[in-house]
Amino acid sequence: LTTSSDQYLPKSLHRYEWIFGRDFLNSGGIDATKALAASVAISPRTRILDVGSGLGGSAFYLCSVRGADVTGVDVLESMVKESTARAAASGLKNVRFICGDVLIHHFERADFDVVWSQDAFLHIPDKRVLLDRLFRLLRPGGQLVFTDYARGRGRGGDEFEEYASNYALLTPDDYATYLKTAGFADVACDNATEEFVKYLREELAQIESGKNSAGETIDESDRRYLLERWQLKLRCCEAGDMGWAKFRATRP
Ligand SMILES: C[S@@+](CC[C@H](N)C(=O)[O-])C[C@H]1O[C@@H](n2cnc3c(N)ncnc32)[C@H](O)[C@@H]1O
Repeated sequence: LTTSSDQYLPKSLHRYEWIFGRDFLNSGGIDATKALAASVAISPRTRILDVGSGLGGSAFYLCSVRGADVTGVDVLESMVKESTARAAASGLKNVRFICGDVLIHHFERADFDVVWSQDAFLHIPDKRVLLDRLFRLLRPGGQLVFTDYARGRGRGGDEFEEYASNYALLTPDDYATYLKTAGFADVACDNATEEFVKYLREELAQIESGKNSAGETIDESDRRYLLERWQLKLRCCEAGDMGWAKFRATRP
C-alpha cells in the first residue's frame, strides 16, 4: 500500500467521513458513487467486485439501491472489520467483505460481471500487474469501471510532486494505454477533473464553515488539517498538475 502510514488510522477515518459522508472515503462521497454507477449496467443479479472497498459506502449503495450482489476486497483488516460490522448492522444480505491484496488474493470465483473501484488504484504502483489481474477477474463481456486520481503531463510543481510521492499516479492517457495492453476493449477514459474540482470546492466550503452537510462540527486541529489538504489539492488541480478520471473498459 503506497500511502503515508497514518492515512487510514481511526482518527483519519473520522476526519474523512466527516467531510465525505458516512461510509465514504472518496471526494464527492455518495454523489460520485451514483454518478459512476449511472455509467454501467447493473441489475439485481449483477455480481460486482469492489476493489479497495474501504468502509463500504459504494458497496452498500450498489447492493441496497441498485440490487447488485457485491464482494468488497480491501487490503486493510481494520477496513474489512468495520465494513463487515456496518453491513451486519444494516441487515444487508448481498454484500460481503474480504481482507486481501487484490493482486494476489485467491477469489473463489473469478467471473465477476463488473469490477468496480473508486480512488483506490492510486495506492497500487504496478498498473500493468493490476490491470492484468482485474482482466482475469472478469467474465468475458464483463466491465471494469473505476475512478482514480491522475497526474498531468511532465513534472508538476514542487508541492504537487511532494504530495504525489505518497501515491502512484498516471496520466489518463497512460492509463488508457495500460488498459488496452492488458487486453481490454471499448476503453473509455473521461477526464473528470471539473467534476472533482466541484466536489473539492463544496467540501472546502464545509471545511471553512466548520460544519459538514449533517451540521456536525469537528476539532479545530482536524479542521485545519483538512483545510490545508483541500487548498493544496485545489491548487494542484488548478495548476493542471493533478486531475481525476473515470474509466470504463470491457473484457472481450
Ligand atoms: C481512498 S480509499 C477508497 C475507499 C472506497 N473505495 C471509497 O471510495 O470510499 C482506498 C482503499 O483502497 C485500499 N487498497 C489499497 N491497496 C489495495 C490493494 N492492493 N488491494 C485491496 N485494497 C487496497 C485501501 O486499504 C483503502 O481502503
